[in-house]
Amino acid sequence: MPAQTAPPVAATHDYSVAMRIWHWANAALVSGQLLTILFQKVIVNAKQAVPEFQQAISKGGSTLTDQQGRAVAHVISERIWQWHIWMGVTLAAFWLFWTVMQALDPAGRRFGARLLAAARRYKLAAPAEHADARHALLAKLTYAAFYLFITIMVVTGLALIFADDVPFLHRIEHTAEEIHNVTMYLIIGYIVLHVVGVVWADNHDDHGLVSRMVSGEDPRTPDNV
Ligand code: HEM
Ligand code: HEM
Repeated sequence: MPAQTAPPVAATHDYSVAMRIWHWANAALVSGQLLTILFQKVIVNAKQAVPEFQQAISKGGSTLTDQQGRAVAHVISERIWQWHIWMGVTLAAFWLFWTVMQALDPAGRRFGARLLAAARRYKLAAPAEHADARHALLAKLTYAAFYLFITIMVVTGLALIFADDVPFLHRIEHTAEEIHNVTMYLIIGYIVLHVVGVVWADNHDDHGLVSRMVSGEDPRTPDNV
């Protein structure tokens, strides 16, 4: 029986076109979603601006009641929520694209297979390779966490969209909102860790890593990837 050896690392560095399109579209959409929340809750914060609306109107000699002020604030925040909802639906479509991509990709490129390969490599690694293998496995585990978080975001987001139309969803609306809210912080944590991690890896032991996620080719050996 042949001796077991650690599987090669190279397979995990081969990003298909579909994967790269998914990665950058998903990154842009997730950033866009976070921006809508930044505008909704911090920059515009229309609900908190009602006294300012009233002050501005009173300068012109008219008055704005609290109820009218809240109605204006509602119009403004609804405009931002519309952006959030449409980007959310697009994100849900990319989530579906990722799921289909997993089914159609060659077995070695599927995320589950790459995660298992990293776990096997870690288990079988020679002492000199142990740190590298552990690092590769930890990176894959953070990706697994992200795929879980984005699934939660899509499911709870869709539940919030249909909460007014479906009685069951209406009953769980508050819980869905809480989960959606908390998962946002986990996603922010992931992004900070991820961007610092890939930039650090690119500058240390994995030169060209970010380029490969853009062009799909290793700049050092473009013809062999
Ligand atoms: C909202 C922002 C982002 C999200 C949600 C995100 C998400 C992800 C995910 C889930 C993966 C794992 C892909 C897989 O192997 O299945 C990944 C890989 C990768 N991302 Fe991002 N990403 C973001 C931003 C960025 C940025 C700004 C960069 C470049 C500076 C970047 C560079 C990379 C690279 C190089 C990989 C491959 C790493 C590896 O093979 O271990 N990402 N990203
Ligand atoms: C990374 C992605 C996302 C982030 C960071 C995010 C964040 C948030 C936050 C913080 C809220 C406010 C919840 C509250 O008021 O307590 C919210 C509301 C909402 N989100 Fe998301 N979300 C994301 C993705 C999605 C997706 C994928 C969908 C739809 C498929 C979605 C649909 C909604 C809806 C419908 C609301 C309620 C809007 C309203 O009150 O009118 N979100 N989101």
